[in-house]
Formats: sequence, C-alpha cells, structure tokens
Amino acid sequence: MVASIRARPPEAVAGSRSPTGREAVIIPHSDPRPPRLAAALQEDVPVSHHIELPPLPFAMDALAPVISSETLSFHYGKHHKAYVDNLNKLVAGTDLEHAPLEKIIAAVAGHADKVGVFNNAAQTWNHTFFWNSLKPGGGGAPTGAVLPAINAAFGSYDNFKKEFSNAAMTQFGSGWAWLVAERGALRIMKTPNADTPLTTGQTPLLTIDVWEHAYYLDYQNRRADFVAAVIDKLLNWEFANANLARSG
Ligand code: FE2
Repeated sequence: MVASIRARPPEAVAGSRSPTGREAVIIPHSDPRPPRLAAALQEDVPVSHHIELPPLPFAMDALAPVISSETLSFHYGKHHKAYVDNLNKLVAGTDLEHAPLEKIIAAVAGHADKVGVFNNAAQTWNHTFFWNSLKPGGGGAPTGAVLPAINAAFGSYDNFKKEFSNAAMTQFGSGWAWLVAERGALRIMKTPNADTPLTTGQTPLLTIDVWEHAYYLDYQNRRADFVAAVIDKLLNWEFANANLARSG
C-alpha cells in the first residue's frame, strides 16, 4: 500500500486554512500564472484529476464508536477530498500535472513559493497513509517483526504506547504523530500541519492524525481520549509490519 501512495512536487499558490482546517486557495488579483492554471483554480472549472482520492479500506461505519461514520464522512469525504481536489487544480498546466504524488511532494518540499502545492500534496498522502494505519478490531500490542523492534527501541509495548501518546498530545495545534523506521531502528516523531516523514528520510510505519477535524465531532477537545482509543482499538499492525519489511 505504501508503494501505491508514495509520491512528490510543482508551482504553488499560497493556501490558507480555515478554522476547520480546510485548505482555501487564494487567487491574487494579478495572477502571473498561465491563464489555464489561473482558471483551473476557480472552483467550477473542470481540470484533469490525475491524483485520485483512494477508496477507504473499510466501510464508513466500520471504525465506530472510536471514529464515528459522521466524523469519517467529513474527514474523508470533505477534508481529504478537498486536498486532492486542490492539488489537482494547483498542478494543472504545470510540469507536475502528470507526476505521481510522491514526486510532487519531493519536488516542492522546502520551497516557500510552493507551500500551497506541498500542503495539499502532503495532506493527500498523509491521509491515505492514516486510513491504512487503522483497521476495525485493530490496536493493542502488535505481533510480527514490529514487536521485537518496538521492544528494542522503547523497552516494551507499554512504553511505546506512552511515547506515541505523548507525541500525539504534545504536537501543538494541527499535525501528526508517527511511528517510523530510521536506519534499522524504530522511533516516534511528530510533524506540524502537513509535514511528513517522506521529506526527512524516515520510513513511516503508522500515523495518527491529530488535527482537530480528526476527532472534534466525537471527542470535542479531548484529544487524549481519541488518541488512546485509536492506539487501543484501531492501529493496523499488519500495515506497520508490511511497511517495516519494505524499510530495508
Ligand atoms: Fe485529517
């Protein structure tokens, strides 16, 4: 699954987030871009959609009650879809129009003038990775190769759980908590906003979305309850093991 959603970057337009976390595209009055690109950024102009919104790997109500179908329908059907739609508009008419997602992310990462493309591309990738990090009936202690790796890195599953929860809780504002592999060892990291380990050399194994839109309908401000429930009941350790096997 990781291989199918890896990708990189193009020309950007500054994006901004509303209080709900949705990306809004700002179109300057004097737009220096080619007319086709400028036009494509208008909401009602059809553009080629070479990056597609992948189907969820489970039914909309399959993660309840940890994540309700209402939360999932907004999170996937509105937020994730908006990132995909904005990305397709932003790359239309550029040399990245037909580039795979991971190529788009790599091409625009670190370019201040392309932050809009990066944000939408990375959020597209991060969310697909997040859905695959979850499964109905998941969570709890892992099995497979990831278990001894966790014991080696953190001492025990319980210590891993504390450190993963702490990363998710201490990510100020919007962002992500990650279990990653780096040079043969596991570690936990957190990233703000759309930032992703793809651009810093680690191999992601699992992630938890801690943007408020991930939990607010179900948990309001109780991020800790959401994180604990995801770790205990939803983490997809088979996905983590598959990613670990590919990490080299
Ligand atoms: Fe999200």
